[in-house]
Amino acid sequence: MTDKVRVDLWGGRFQGDADPGFAEFNRSFGFDRRLFEVDVRASIAHCRGLEAGSVLTANDSEQIRSALTTILERGRTDAAYFDELAAEDVHSFVEARLVELVGDAGRKLHTGRSRNDQVATDLRLWLREEIDRLTNTLRGTQKALLDLAEANRAGVMPGYTHLQRAQPILFAHWCLAYFEMLARDRQRLTEARTRVNVLPLGSAALAGTSYPIDRDAVALELGFEAVSRNSLDAVSDRDFCVEFAGAASLIMMHLSRLAEDVILYATTEFGFFELSDAIATGSSLMPQKKNPDSMELVRGKAGRVFGHLTALLMLMKGLPLAYNKDMQEDKEALFDTVDTVKACLEVTGTVLGNLRLNETRMRAAATQGYLNATELADYLARKGMPFREAHEMVGRAVMLAIERDLELNDLSLADLKCFSALIEPDVFESLSLERTLATKFQTGGTSLDRVAAELTSARTRL
Ligand code: ARG
Repeated sequence: MTDKVRVDLWGGRFQGDADPGFAEFNRSFGFDRRLFEVDVRASIAHCRGLEAGSVLTANDSEQIRSALTTILERGRTDAAYFDELAAEDVHSFVEARLVELVGDAGRKLHTGRSRNDQVATDLRLWLREEIDRLTNTLRGTQKALLDLAEANRAGVMPGYTHLQRAQPILFAHWCLAYFEMLARDRQRLTEARTRVNVLPLGSAALAGTSYPIDRDAVALELGFEAVSRNSLDAVSDRDFCVEFAGAASLIMMHLSRLAEDVILYATTEFGFFELSDAIATGSSLMPQKKNPDSMELVRGKAGRVFGHLTALLMLMKGLPLAYNKDMQEDKEALFDTVDTVKACLEVTGTVLGNLRLNETRMRAAATQGYLNATELADYLARKGMPFREAHEMVGRAVMLAIERDLELNDLSLADLKCFSALIEPDVFESLSLERTLATKFQTGGTSLDRVAAELTSARTRL
């Protein structure tokens, strides 16, 4: 079987058989069979293009297209179909199957086409559809964040900088922070899609085709928005893979940060979140343990996707124009990127749907540790004290409170007045958690009203 396929592809120039070890090494069919469907669909479109240009007779074209449809059906329904033939790659597999079915007519399909423009077309078609699916999956994860935020509208927690308690925030505000990151990711995928959605077919091996194929018509049939403008570039361009891997890497970076927050907040030390049993694991040794494996894997898999991005960049950086076999190495990186990002988005959505909040602990943490110190400085600044001076003064008040093991709002009015005569009884209102949150009313802030408005607008944007 191997021989038959090889002869079909380049028999004339060759006399001897390929070394079996090399043949195996050269093969991509083990993984590029994933392009089977798009390869057949692109072949059908190419066939129509040849027919419209009178390169193929209506009869040959009809035979070829009907055989390709049969092949597609077989491939969809019978996994063993792929293993009956030791093809080099998916393109030679489909062609061999075609020749098997319709003989000489099948041998005409490769007219005006090379595997070089064929594989570029397949990859773009495949990736375009995966991007659409991924965009949807991404939307699902955003929805999980929104649902979680809406179910806990009044929940508060400490916000951190340097992982030190900084200022109180709404839990929903935290959710919406990740929502925004994923919104940019979604936008990035959509923008990348435009550059993916360009048809290389018609570039042939590298120089362009000499047949009167209407490339625009082929593009239209396959749903491409444009045709490539330069054949050398079209067969050797994998920018779209790199760009996609870049967008995917940012998604993974965001998921990984979310994972880290969840892991941290689920520790006994923080005690803000508890993962429900559905998404946690135990320890084979320590009976008390509940481990956040789900989120740890997401964090870990980020490294894997960044690796694919680097691999693709390294793969392409030294390649002379135009096609080089090195480029066969693009596929596993691309496929695994898609699979990994998709799985991580889904699992993250599931984790978000299975988080229980310990609101009491979150609220306690948001009100202990001088998270309202900035409020006191703002209070004094509003009463006319230069902010720098207020900052310094509040620093000293915090020192006193630490000494007495009290919060700022537990100091007496008399104690506070020692720091500034501007301090009056209304200071305690200003230092309350509710006021602290409510003052952050500007766009982007964490006041209840602002966050409620953002939740509504986020729903619409979804
Ligand atoms: N399997 C090859 C790849 O993935 C298809 C293109 C082969 N072209 C060639 N001239 N050998 O890149």
